[in-house]
Amino acid sequence: MRNKSLLIAILAGVVLVLAVFALGWRFGTATGGRAVPEPADVPATAATTPPPLDALLDKQIDAIRRGVPVDQEGDPPPMARVENADLVRARAYPMQPPTIPHTIDGYQVDKNSNRCMLCHARSNAATFQAPPVSVTHYMDRDDQFLATISPRRYFCSQCHVVQTDAQPLVANTFEDIDTVLSHSGSQ
Ligand code: HEC
Ligand code: HEC
Repeated sequence: MRNKSLLIAILAGVVLVLAVFALGWRFGTATGGRAVPEPADVPATAATTPPPLDALLDKQIDAIRRGVPVDQEGDPPPMARVENADLVRARAYPMQPPTIPHTIDGYQVDKNSNRCMLCHARSNAATFQAPPVSVTHYMDRDDQFLATISPRRYFCSQCHVVQTDAQPLVANTFEDIDTVLSHSGSQ
């Protein structure tokens, strides 16, 4: 007798679970009930080309949006090309880490190997005609010279960056000290 009521309870449970599942299958939505607008309801994204940057600089805070309203998506600008002309750029001040005048795609720098040092280590520099890293790159924080690259200077791209042909996103009126001195007429 006891077993029979247990059997009925289990059967009732199974029927209930099946019913809930069937209801969910019929009326549920894949989004957990949230309304999803039909494609036609989505506002048309801006197919327009954003206006030139100069026209926007004084009007908007975030130049990265290039004047496209926040509720619209603009056409992404073409990917910038990394400069690879091997032409060293002038440094803006004496202790500026020089910018990298070549591409560094795929150059691995990790715990086990440092691709940059293949060419920029003192011992290899002549072979690759690369400027060797300067003495500062061998100094520890107590100004002691180490035999190998200092851990402080191991991850090169912390300080050295490639340059691209991308348009600047914000205006920049920086002048180096020589230009400033030439303005004031005192040399
Ligand atoms: C295959 C050799 C090679 C590798 C690898 C290499 N470089 Fe160079 N690098 C050069 C050469 C050669 C130059 C000299 C300018 C030129 O010819 O591009 C140079 C120039 C530079 C300069 C400019 C120095 C100056 O005085 O203006 C920097 C900075 C630099 N490299 C950083 C790096 C970094 C950071 C890496 C790793 C991500 C790296 N390089 C990997 C060969 C290399
Ligand atoms: C913490 C910042 C920093 C890191 C990390 C760093 N550098 Fe530099 N690097 C500088 C600065 C600053 C200069 C210019 C002044 C000087 O020589 O110390 C410089 C100069 C250089 C130069 C020009 C040397 C010369 O005599 O003109 C080369 C080449 C260079 N770095 C390559 C590298 C490479 C390769 C690495 C990675 C192994 C690296 N740097 C890591 C800051 C850094």
